[in-house]
Amino acid sequence: MKTFLRSTYSSQSDRAESSKSLMLTQTARDPALRRMRSEAQERALTAAEVHAGLLARPLPCLPSKFFYDHRGSVLFDRITRLPEYYLTRTEEALLPEAARDAVARVGPRHLVELGSGLGTKVRTLLGAMSTAGLLDSCTLFDVSEPALAQSLPRLAAERPGLRTSAIVGDFLTDLGALGPGGSRLIAFLGSTIGNIHPRDVPGFFRSAASVLAEGDGLLVGLDLVKDRARLEAAYNDAQGVTAEFNRNILRVMNARLGADFDPEAFEHVAFYDAEAAWIEMRLRAARACRVRVPGAEAELVLPGGGEIRTEISCKYTRPAVEALLAATGLRLEEWYTDADALFALALMRRTAERSAG
Ligand code: SAH
Ligand code: TRP
Repeated sequence: MKTFLRSTYSSQSDRAESSKSLMLTQTARDPALRRMRSEAQERALTAAEVHAGLLARPLPCLPSKFFYDHRGSVLFDRITRLPEYYLTRTEEALLPEAARDAVARVGPRHLVELGSGLGTKVRTLLGAMSTAGLLDSCTLFDVSEPALAQSLPRLAAERPGLRTSAIVGDFLTDLGALGPGGSRLIAFLGSTIGNIHPRDVPGFFRSAASVLAEGDGLLVGLDLVKDRARLEAAYNDAQGVTAEFNRNILRVMNARLGADFDPEAFEHVAFYDAEAAWIEMRLRAARACRVRVPGAEAELVLPGGGEIRTEISCKYTRPAVEALLAATGLRLEEWYTDADALFALALMRRTAERSAG
């Protein structure tokens, strides 16, 4: 059994930075939370990924998983409640019925949520499994340890009989840590799949299929292609929360790699590229600058107006998803969408044949 100092975990989503070190210390003692890498390995990997990203031309880029330190997770949580950000509330409206139907089809006893963050969507899925009398275990998988340190004990407290665990890892490389499937449903919600470059999506599907047994399910939340105005508004909110979230990646670079970015000297840019069918997020330097990133042995020189790409958010159609699923070991079984076709939940099932490659 796990023991937690519950008083540390308030239900408030916002918390003071000062409580962070305390949370991490406790996490270190929590046997249910597993890290894929030691701190030193994580640092080395971050350095290599950032180094490669900053060398990219024509546009230097930063891997989007670095948005999510504790502050980033809290800012994202605020994004999900913005009036312009229709994604979360549309998905949440679809989820109860999709969860009920997916659970009826797959019959899962083990739930895994990828990129679970501070979100509460897992509860809807657990509720559906519990109602069906199937619930056994739940694993949260996220790159953000602070987010898991907050959400794992909360989940354990809410469902005392449930076997709960968490993995700090990268869903692009570390899904093998889940071990073989069987009665497993993996949820990947919030259009986070949209943040994976389409060229890497088939590989992601194959690696998800490799930890599923025949008949197991993958439930994926997808934002759909729609008019430009609606899409661009969702990533350019009036309150500027998305802008602050975007700039947060620079603060993370400063904290983890000793970089000297001045976040306030960068402007948030988000626009829809209809040909690529993605929203692209960038940070634009207000003036020429030279940024040192000692931890990544890199230096970035930008002219005034120079840009860094921080994120893409792909918008899908059903045929586009089906094309990416070809020969991955997964097939599309159900497509749950709202009346305005803003968002979809796609239920995929592991097929009998071995996935290619
Ligand atoms: N599922 C929640 C949160 C989505 S935000 C929701 O739907 O509202 C995206 C989440 O994915 C964050 O918690 C972030 O830390 C995590 N994430 C982003 N890139 C990741 C990666 N490469 N590997 C694992 N987790 C990642
Ligand atoms: N998965 C979210 C999305 O694609 C992530 C996100 C929302 C995001 N707003 C953002 C990422 C702003 C970077 C910047 O919608």
